[in-house]
Amino acid sequence: MKQIIRTALIISIGLMGTQCSTAQQTKPAQTQGTAVNEQQMKQFVDDLLSKMTLEEKIGQLNLVAVGFDVTGPVVSENVDENIRNGNVGGVFNTFTPVAARKLQELAINNTRLKIPLLFGYDVIHGHRTIFPMPLGLAASWDMEAVERSARIAADEASADGLNWVFSPMVDISRDPRWGRIAEGAGEDPYLGSKIAAAMVRGYQGNDLTKNNTVMATVKHFALYGAPEAGRDYHTVDMSMNRMFNEYLAPYKAAIDAGAGSVMTAFNEVNGVPATANRWLLTELLRDQWGFDGFVVTDYTAINELVPHGLGTEAEVGALALKAGADMDMVGEVYLKNVAQLVREGKLTEEDVTKSARRILEAKYKLGLFQDPYRYTDEARAKATIMKPEYITAAREIARESMVLLKNENNALPLNKTASIALVGPLARNQRDMIGNWSGAGDWKQAVSVEQGIRNVAGSGVKINYAKGANIADDPQMIQRLNAHGGELEIDTRSSEEMIAEAVKVAQASDVVVAVVGESQGMSGEAASRADISLPGRQQELLRALKATGKPLVLVLMNGRPLALQWEAENADAILETWFAGTQAGNAIADVLFGDYNPSGKLPVTFPQVVGQVPIYYAQKNTGRPYGGEMLDKYKSRYMDVSNEPLYPFGYGLSYTTFNYAAPQLSQTSITPQQELEVRVDVTNTGQRDGEEVVQLYIQDLVGSITRPVRELKGFQKIALKKGETKTVTFRITADDLKFYNNDLEYVYEPGEFKVYVGPNSRDVQELTFTLSGQ
Ligand code: NOJ
Repeated sequence: MKQIIRTALIISIGLMGTQCSTAQQTKPAQTQGTAVNEQQMKQFVDDLLSKMTLEEKIGQLNLVAVGFDVTGPVVSENVDENIRNGNVGGVFNTFTPVAARKLQELAINNTRLKIPLLFGYDVIHGHRTIFPMPLGLAASWDMEAVERSARIAADEASADGLNWVFSPMVDISRDPRWGRIAEGAGEDPYLGSKIAAAMVRGYQGNDLTKNNTVMATVKHFALYGAPEAGRDYHTVDMSMNRMFNEYLAPYKAAIDAGAGSVMTAFNEVNGVPATANRWLLTELLRDQWGFDGFVVTDYTAINELVPHGLGTEAEVGALALKAGADMDMVGEVYLKNVAQLVREGKLTEEDVTKSARRILEAKYKLGLFQDPYRYTDEARAKATIMKPEYITAAREIARESMVLLKNENNALPLNKTASIALVGPLARNQRDMIGNWSGAGDWKQAVSVEQGIRNVAGSGVKINYAKGANIADDPQMIQRLNAHGGELEIDTRSSEEMIAEAVKVAQASDVVVAVVGESQGMSGEAASRADISLPGRQQELLRALKATGKPLVLVLMNGRPLALQWEAENADAILETWFAGTQAGNAIADVLFGDYNPSGKLPVTFPQVVGQVPIYYAQKNTGRPYGGEMLDKYKSRYMDVSNEPLYPFGYGLSYTTFNYAAPQLSQTSITPQQELEVRVDVTNTGQRDGEEVVQLYIQDLVGSITRPVRELKGFQKIALKKGETKTVTFRITADDLKFYNNDLEYVYEPGEFKVYVGPNSRDVQELTFTLSGQ
């Protein structure tokens, strides 16, 4: 489907004539590879703006979608005509050097001032070479790997006609019902901030004018990951305390790392939708945080201010522009209303100029005025896209994203000469491997688990395959998924028949590998689930397989934490693989057979049951903390389930074991000017080389506001050879102890603190130190 539309688009553009305008093209004195000179940029943009009519400025604020991957009910119309008439500032959903060049020619050859277009796209976890879905990428806890994946994505995207990506998505989420938890880095602001910055570095490099870097967009500003009841687009209502201490940090980290643009969120923030929220888009973002790039709305988000209840289309257009939303994605509210609003005195031309300036500056930073065709070199595309080195990187990074949740009786790693009952709806699947929001990725190039096992284990392995269950059984769910590209292959046999076949192959094999989980379309945008257990009859299948008495290994694929109580109790081994990308099957097989020793750790808590949601490690103590006593009634607890998660944040096993010696502090008291060292010796005590993520948490015991029971403040991923010991050192300063108080001042408060060190947020050793007042 995608392929067909893409070809059609190129042909239709190819037929359009390109007229030559007589106006002179102005080029800045800018060379590729040279950092932007702010003064020269200002002069160039001032000069350009002075020549522009109000209508030409408004045109710059208009972003149109051409191509595919529609994410809303409306699509852009009359695009060619609008580009020729100077009514378009940027285009998204169009790529390939040929398609992008054609559209760029339309703008350059037909408009009076020859202002080039931006070319944006949802490059979320890779462009053509697809890496693990972002939550999986976060599970690597490897910032070099994260940055590398973004760097490769930028190289491919920029070779493919693009200069602007709608990533990183940094929305903190503690609610696995929300489908878009898949697109972010999980629940923690510290880990999320590190990842946000690494992604921006990867996309933008240190020079946006280079033809292999792209401008990053941090999204969705703000708090999109905290909708009520986990339902997408739903209301967000949050205290300032929580907002500042738990949710805003990753956006700020991306901005501090230099992200060139920010995308607004669909949701409201405490009563005012983000896209019309002047406090958010101007006072916080620009005045307090110093952001000087441009703000793009999310898809038709200005139009959606009407059903939000803020007024007529013209009224919400004025609100959004005044709030600080510079570019209107798809909705054309600005295009249709802003000139009139200026004539009526409801907006000033300066309101328009301000936003146009920011967009023109972005184009300048990208070097587009110097060479509008910088990103449309076909030969470069050919040499860059999915080159062998990038495929290798996809496999290496995918392996790092996998989290071993359970491994009993040495169920894993598997023997390369075993006979394996390979069972489950995802065992032969390719479509789902690349996950949701996989941009221009081609799932047909994805490696299935079955293929991966054959590649890694070779001819010694015996595979006995049975599908065992469909991924979903609810006909409406299947219809909905297929209506949006799910391509679910539904086996029409009865589930009894399918399960019976699977049991038979299990009985004839040494071990069962069940590849189960969600279809990629069950997470992502507009894909919230109220029931987060394994869909369809998959658990029934697992129960029947368990009854055979054969070792049962689960390979999970899912876009969110699932509620897996039964599975956790009954499987011998569980490997969480998320949706691992183009090289999923090979990477999974590398881990299953022990060619790679798993090292991923959960970036998000797994609940026992959905009723515990939202569940996260950095919770507050409450006045009645529950200590685990069965008969303790008046405590903050449930009647029917413990407070514990199924798997805590930071959790993940290895094929080897690590011993943590007692951690040591350099001193037990510091002044605000001093540095505290926390040292811990970690030893690989098992039989294999491995990697471990050593984690450091801090708790502020007494504060002017209540503080979480612990917060991640440091981590290091280290490689340890069998038998090797390394000393890991963390340095803590007063800066690490800061938080926003109730006056929203970012302060540390002297007093007693606890430090926790360990392999996850639960299994830690603690120490105490004091911070003095001066
Ligand atoms: C809507 C999504 O919320 C956003 O993440 C995406 O970048 C835009 N659509 C453009 O596709």
